[in-house]
Amino acid sequence: MYKTLENTLFIGKKVIYVPSCPSTNDLALKLLHHQVLPEGTVIITNKQTEGRGQRGNKWLTEPGLNLTLSVILRPTFLAIKDQFYLTIVTALAVRDFINTQAEIVAQIKWPNDILINNKKAGGILIENQLQGEYISTTVVGIGLNVNQKNFELLSATSIRLEMNREFVLSEIFTDLLSNLESRYLTLRSGDLSSLKKDYLNSLFRLNEQHTYISNNIQFTGVIRDIDAWGKLLIETEKGIKRFDLKEVSFL
Ligand code: BTN
Repeated sequence: MYKTLENTLFIGKKVIYVPSCPSTNDLALKLLHHQVLPEGTVIITNKQTEGRGQRGNKWLTEPGLNLTLSVILRPTFLAIKDQFYLTIVTALAVRDFINTQAEIVAQIKWPNDILINNKKAGGILIENQLQGEYISTTVVGIGLNVNQKNFELLSATSIRLEMNREFVLSEIFTDLLSNLESRYLTLRSGDLSSLKKDYLNSLFRLNEQHTYISNNIQFTGVIRDIDAWGKLLIETEKGIKRFDLKEVSFL
């Protein structure tokens, strides 16, 4: 069903498909423990039974309707301090793919939720293995809601629901991974500033006044930027404040 990719340099040249597994990220990490897999290897399943999300959350997805995959990368050129660029690259690849499908514009909710019409259609879980000051291996997990029509959460959606048509998973697979390679090659070429610019241009709520909560305190502020570590910079009446992943929630 999922073929190896022809139009890429290294991503998707090896595709490991399993009908079912607890988590493609876990399977990738397990396989890496036992064997050397080439950079760009993709692990994909139709049925993920214990999908993991950000902040220890679960990633629930109806079997056979969505994409749940992990890509093995070896960004040995990337300093640990720049690791947020892997999030930027992946989020932009998913956004690029959605934007080429229709006039609908996808946005990225910091740090890496993919939104269509303000609802979450995709998520990313990146797990790095480090060696000294550099990243040796990365598992990039992507969950994209494609053809699912019913969600428990009102804040979730799929590209089918937002675009009103059904998609062929194997075609999305190819397009998405080609976009990932192209954004990753930009990272490898060292052009961090263009990646950051594109990320900020797609960022949900950038330069708009909204309400947030941190340490149980509600406040209004305006997202202005991210820093080198990927922390979110929100301008408040007390000045610019910097937030890490678990330190702020959007209201
Ligand atoms: C999030 O938004 O919380 C991140 C969700 C990431 C889900 C994907 S699905 C494929 C890969 N395997 C996992 O267990 N998680 C990621």
